Amino acid sequence: MGDYETVQVDWDGDRGVGTVTLDRPDALNALNDQIRTDVLAAMQELEAHNEDADGVALRVVVIEGAGNRAFSAGADIGGFSDESAGGSSDPGLYQFVREFPAPVVAKIDGYCLGGGFELSLACDFRFASESSRFGLPEVDLGLLPGAGAVQYITKLAGPGLAKEIAMTGEHFPPERMSDAEVIHDVYPDHEFDDAVEEFVTDLAGQAPLSLQALKESAEMATQTGLREGIAHDRTMFETLLSTEDFEEGAAAFNEDREPEFQGK
Ligand code: COA
Repeated sequence: MGDYETVQVDWDGDRGVGTVTLDRPDALNALNDQIRTDVLAAMQELEAHNEDADGVALRVVVIEGAGNRAFSAGADIGGFSDESAGGSSDPGLYQFVREFPAPVVAKIDGYCLGGGFELSLACDFRFASESSRFGLPEVDLGLLPGAGAVQYITKLAGPGLAKEIAMTGEHFPPERMSDAEVIHDVYPDHEFDDAVEEFVTDLAGQAPLSLQALKESAEMATQTGLREGIAHDRTMFETLLSTEDFEEGAAAFNEDREPEFQGK
């Protein structure tokens, strides 16, 4: 894998799982321009595994933070002069993650603040260790979260919680986030790695073209009207009916065995 200044990339070809680790632990993995560029490049590099594959090689991407203190403490405060607050100068990364063909899992262990929280909101799944803390401290700087956190939390949990997080700037425990369905689950610290690993392994075994279509469908449901969304789903259903993976899924069901999907 490529050599990046601010991220580590790991590729598990057996499961088709790529891991991108935000790697500025001394700055609690704060997001500066370099790390945003590196995450994007690392994910593109992972996606390139599909080019030589017979089907879909990259099944799931995990994003996590290096060290044991933070997923990410948000935009790099030292770098605000380059307009990096939460990605307002670069919505590219957040949109790229949201539209990335494979599901992306945010593995949150520690502070998940500001633009870091927004990066997790761009992911498809958010899991947290119980010692994680969530917050949108931009208000303390006279700003607002620049990459849509208030919009997304409002859609996930309603305006009450979105305003509470963003207007107080306080740190919230993960249980509060999972109760409101802003994140998917919280695990005791000592179970966290295994629990996420198990989820990721299962997800990586699902039919990749189905996952891709489901991701598009869910994204569409947040952006467009019901009629347009249902039309999309209908079209995708017909497309998936003609895939080899559907044949494999049906055969595996009839033969009472686990399917082996190829993504074609
Ligand atoms: N940008 C740049 N550097 C950051 C950072 C950020 N968002 N968050 C933390 N760091 C750096 C600190 O400057 C410190 O660096 P130093 O050791 O060179 O002094 C290091 O990370 C550790 O942080 P520190 O503040 O000493 O740890 P703490 O345990 O006392 O507090 C936080 C942790 C997360 C509560 C605190 O760092 C914080 O509030 N960070 C800013 C969060 C923020 O406002 N993010 C959104 C910006 S829009």
